[in-house]
Amino acid sequence: MGAESSFGFSLPSGRPDVGQEVFVAQACTGCHTIHELELPKPKELGPVMITLGGPVTAVKTYAELVTSIINPSHRLAPGYPLDQISTCGVSDMPIYNDVMTVTELVDIVSFLQPQYEELTQIPPMYYRGYKYH
Ligand code: HEC
Repeated sequence: MGAESSFGFSLPSGRPDVGQEVFVAQACTGCHTIHELELPKPKELGPVMITLGGPVTAVKTYAELVTSIINPSHRLAPGYPLDQISTCGVSDMPIYNDVMTVTELVDIVSFLQPQYEELTQIPPMYYRGYKYH
């Protein structure tokens, strides 16, 4: 187990309802829709809409979600053409590390995590966690 291991990583439990408010207040909805949930959108929308939540073959863990928020380029969202979501391998998602508190991060993740549903049977359009549009 090296220094990069996520072993021992654990978040305090958050407040999903507050997380939903922070998600809207931080304008995450400018670039993200949530599977089967209507949320208010800011005036300015990003160039591409990425859906969070919904059916996936391996449910997203807290650690994965935290990583994709505080270090978006670590692993880019699957199922989208790279040139639409990144520039030279760097995610087009803004870095929130200097504007969001850890409490807000914990709340957002506790709101997002239950939006993912794990598929027990894999329909043909979903394959190994990749969602084809
Ligand atoms: C300007 C557009 C933009 C905004 C605003 C934005 N994101 Fe993103 N986000 C992206 C893009 C593009 C990706 C896909 C590339 C990647 O995985 O980093 C992404 C990916 C993600 C992922 C990973 C999705 C996956 O399937 O792997 C999560 C989780 C996420 N964003 C959460 C958030 C949260 C929470 C906020 C608000 C604090 C936010 N985003 C604001 C553009 C944005």
